[in-house]
Amino acid sequence: MFSALSSLLKNPTLRHMARDGLLSLDPERAHKATIIALQGGLVAQSEFIDPKELRVNLAGLQLSNPVGMAAGFDKDAQVHEAIGNIGFGLCEVGTLTPRPQNGHSKPRLFRIMPARAVINRMGFNNEGHDGAYVRLANSEFSTITGVNIGANKDSKDFVADYVQGVTRFANIADYLTINISSPNTPGLRGLQSPHMLKRLLNETLEARSKKNANLPIFLKIAPDMDEEAMDAIAKIIAPTDLDGLIVSNSTLSRTGVRKLPHSEEAGGLSGVPLFDIATIRLAQMRQRVGPKLAIIGVGGVHDAKSALAKFEAGADAIQLYTALVFGGLELLDIIKLGLVREVRRQKLKSISQIVGTKTDAWAAKTIPH
Ligand SMILES: Cc1cc2nc3c(=O)[nH]c(=O)nc-3n(C[C@H](O)[C@H](O)[C@H](O)COP(=O)(O)O)c2cc1C
Repeated sequence: MFSALSSLLKNPTLRHMARDGLLSLDPERAHKATIIALQGGLVAQSEFIDPKELRVNLAGLQLSNPVGMAAGFDKDAQVHEAIGNIGFGLCEVGTLTPRPQNGHSKPRLFRIMPARAVINRMGFNNEGHDGAYVRLANSEFSTITGVNIGANKDSKDFVADYVQGVTRFANIADYLTINISSPNTPGLRGLQSPHMLKRLLNETLEARSKKNANLPIFLKIAPDMDEEAMDAIAKIIAPTDLDGLIVSNSTLSRTGVRKLPHSEEAGGLSGVPLFDIATIRLAQMRQRVGPKLAIIGVGGVHDAKSALAKFEAGADAIQLYTALVFGGLELLDIIKLGLVREVRRQKLKSISQIVGTKTDAWAAKTIPH
């Protein structure tokens, strides 16, 4: 029955019906239904074969294409294999905290349809390290899979939780992300302050050495900081062995959604209104860290043009989440196809040759308020 249904979903009309059906559900139920469909094999595998122009090296990881699923979609590593089969070049599971956590009370996820945006205050709801560890250990994933780690909200020492995350997943993940940018855990973004960040990086990078692991570690930052704060972060990471940055998490800003239903809800805003803010911050970080450090660009990617802009601003790879809520999974092939066409139009060999070609122009833009 599953395979029959899966071939049905290859039919574009039925796919659109499924997407519209999901959009009519409460957002958290729609997300759960999507996870169940992926677990049950109800979503067709991609027929798109990644051309060589899309292959990239991201901090030593060989990606067959540079378009990834952002953290928060597969929090508990339930569908990372399916995400790879759909055709994503990387999948980031988590955020995982050491102990299970319920997150904030519902409702905590809100669509803002006219702006193709979402506000979430999930609050790191997840089953904790143990469940995800077992699922990752028992799966055969060929797509690059990262584990995004965080801290329990009632933890006495946030840094210790990250150290625990590195120690637990260093030998099983392809890369790790230290997420200090969720707006929904009080005090978490405080880890971006110079004093705390120094300690956090020292201890987590040391934990990786102790495990004799050499997987890349990324730091995921918020878009809500000024240039002075970005200077401080760049200065702190420069002498460390950190492998890359993820720019960015959702924003506390309400630009582009003011007066729309749900815009007053507390939480992080993602999707189209985040695009300019996150892309400007990405370019400004690229200017500060130079061309070598890997950067994953996230925030508001919603079509091939916005995906291309992230590379031009300085991203080596990109991730997305919110646009999939509105555009469905077929958006992935649309983006990959658009990127290949652009590489060929410019008579280049690889998407990597586009990275940073418009960093200065993006960095000079004014953050919309
Ligand atoms: C419902 C939801 C849950 C999220 N949960 C996490 C999370 O657990 N950890 C994390 O690092 N980012 C999380 N994010 C942020 C995304 O990974 C991404 O950085 C952000 O949404 C911007 O990308 P987008 O505009 O493509 O969605 C979440 C986003 C959404 C919409």
